[in-house]
Amino acid sequence: MHIPLSQPDITQKEIDAVIDVMQSGTLSIGPRVVEFENKVAAVTHRRHAVAVSSGTVGLHAAMIAAGIGPGDEVITTPFSFVASANCILYVGAKPVFVDIDMQTLNMDPAKIEAAITPRTKAIVAVEAFGHPGGMIETEQIAQRNELILIEDSCEGFGGFAGARPIGSFGRASVFGFYPNKQITTGEGGMIVTDDDRFADTCRALRNQGREGMAWLAHQRLGYNWRLSEINAAIGSVQVDRLEEILENRRRVAHFYIDRLIDNRYLILPTISDDDHMSWFVFVVRLNDLFGPTDRDDIIKALRAEGIGTNNYFPPIHLQPYIQQPFGYQPGDFPITESVSGRTLALPFHGKLSEADVEQVVRTLNEVISNTVSVRKERKY
Ligand SMILES: Cc1ncc(COP(=O)(O)O)c(C=O)c1O
Repeated sequence: MHIPLSQPDITQKEIDAVIDVMQSGTLSIGPRVVEFENKVAAVTHRRHAVAVSSGTVGLHAAMIAAGIGPGDEVITTPFSFVASANCILYVGAKPVFVDIDMQTLNMDPAKIEAAITPRTKAIVAVEAFGHPGGMIETEQIAQRNELILIEDSCEGFGGFAGARPIGSFGRASVFGFYPNKQITTGEGGMIVTDDDRFADTCRALRNQGREGMAWLAHQRLGYNWRLSEINAAIGSVQVDRLEEILENRRRVAHFYIDRLIDNRYLILPTISDDDHMSWFVFVVRLNDLFGPTDRDDIIKALRAEGIGTNNYFPPIHLQPYIQQPFGYQPGDFPITESVSGRTLALPFHGKLSEADVEQVVRTLNEVISNTVSVRKERKY
């Protein structure tokens, strides 16, 4: 792609940190992981941080540490990357979806309590695209109903809901550091919690079930979910640069907002004064004159012009491996389905220039006008 959908923000500092690790002789289980964990715990105001090899395994570990298993139901959003529902399936529990709020694109807190049954054990709540909206209410609902809240904060590092950092809600929160995320470690993730036992369990799970230093003593069934020193060193520098990284992304988001605000065919992200978005992606929505076929045609046309674009996210309840066994149908979560058929993720990262944004916007406006003209011709 001439203008890619995303790109990591890597400087000489990250490169130097990797070289230092390579020269240190300690490539795994060393001081960089601990340093990275301490920095993430500080950003999220948590007592513990446990580095792991991806956001997905972090969520899997959190489900095991929360004691979720077969027969349990876990409430979650159908509008997310699949990992937020997959972690529920990994432990043999049932995902129960709750439709989203049209503005925040997160689970609608007003609909959560109707989905609670005697089998409900937990809620996995996601900050879609880094938007913290509804998380405070969702935490109150979890508390009131004695449910374990796991925050899937994979898309929200550095954001705030009021004075509360994303990653500070519920029993534990999980981040992912894939290269399209606000900060990256190449591949990697982090579980943060205030609960000592929860943290110890996650540490044992990531390290083959070991609870002490003895290499061949395994107290429980564990996994190799460790993060290497190389990845941790990159993450540590990225956290040091967090303000700069987030500010660059904020600036690019505002380049887009300023240029797209008057396009009557588009709905831009809605952010209230209390929500301090951590911009993960820049997703706009076509208005309801358009449907999924128009959207897909627009994506094709943008890609043909070298502009990276994607349809974040198809509804999870309609992915075949979830739809069939649980019997979900189109129409079950109408807001998710309607929004999801009209989203366009535009190229977005902190190094995108104003000129690049202008080119994306110019091309997008042309492609949308062409789509509108073709539709008019078809109608009249
Ligand atoms: C909401 C959400 N949950 C979980 C994940 C999984 O993270 P990872 O790709 O690091 O496994 C992602 C990553 O895209 C995500 O966006």
